Amino acid sequence: MKAKIIVFSQQGSTRAIAEDIASGIRMAGNDCELADLTDTDPSHPGVCDLMAIGCPVFYFKEPFNVADFMEALPQGDGKHAFVFVTHGATPAGTLASMWERLANKGYQVLGAFRSYADSHQIPIYPSPTHTHGHPDEQEHSEAIAFGQKMAEISRQVNAGETDLIPEPIIAPEGWWTERAVELSQEVLLEMMPKFAINLDRCTQCLDCETACPVDGIAIVEAPPVSRSLA
Ligand SMILES: Cc1cc2nc3c(=O)[nH]c(=O)nc-3n(C[C@H](O)[C@H](O)[C@H](O)COP(=O)(O)O)c2cc1C
Repeated sequence: MKAKIIVFSQQGSTRAIAEDIASGIRMAGNDCELADLTDTDPSHPGVCDLMAIGCPVFYFKEPFNVADFMEALPQGDGKHAFVFVTHGATPAGTLASMWERLANKGYQVLGAFRSYADSHQIPIYPSPTHTHGHPDEQEHSEAIAFGQKMAEISRQVNAGETDLIPEPIIAPEGWWTERAVELSQEVLLEMMPKFAINLDRCTQCLDCETACPVDGIAIVEAPPVSRSLA
């Protein structure tokens, strides 16, 4: 079996987890290619039997560029897939959202994985952060085991054991994912540095559009777009 893991990672934690998962898939006797999402054309994600998408959680969601990438994928026609994220506090509904996006595209989703990661790039957090040192040894081991499990389930489902296909995960309900996420977003919006496009000074050099790691800016639109939480 050939697997392909497509990962977006700004600071390297999600990439490290992707490498663990890939080694688990290889330990189970399979080929596994690792590709950066930013270097991959979503309309030609590559020939494989098992595809995975991984990313950090940004503002309790998959980053804009990852959501766009998944929407631009071709129909999966039942191809096996799985999703994974790293996060500082909570993935909230991110895994459920990514799962649903792939399922809506016709992929057969077989699982989801999450790990804590250091949030040192968030300027309002004290240093060292509450997740300093993550992913840790245990999370690396869990990621390797998850890769092995995904490869094994894919093989067994192909052999006819369709009862192993899991139910889609759903966003956890309750205070934490609803009101707490809302409150945290309000606090983040208040405290994080603000980005605004000054139309009087903008020369449309496109530097900001090119530099934005999550494809959140479209300067040539009229009016220019800066995608934000709200
Ligand atoms: C802009 C931004 C928003 C973030 N939002 C969240 C969040 O909503 N929930 C969370 O648990 N972690 C959040 N984090 C922490 C990241 O998910 C964490 O640092 C990430 O796993 C790092 O992955 P990477 O090293 O692959 O880039 C955020 C980080 C950044 C930079």
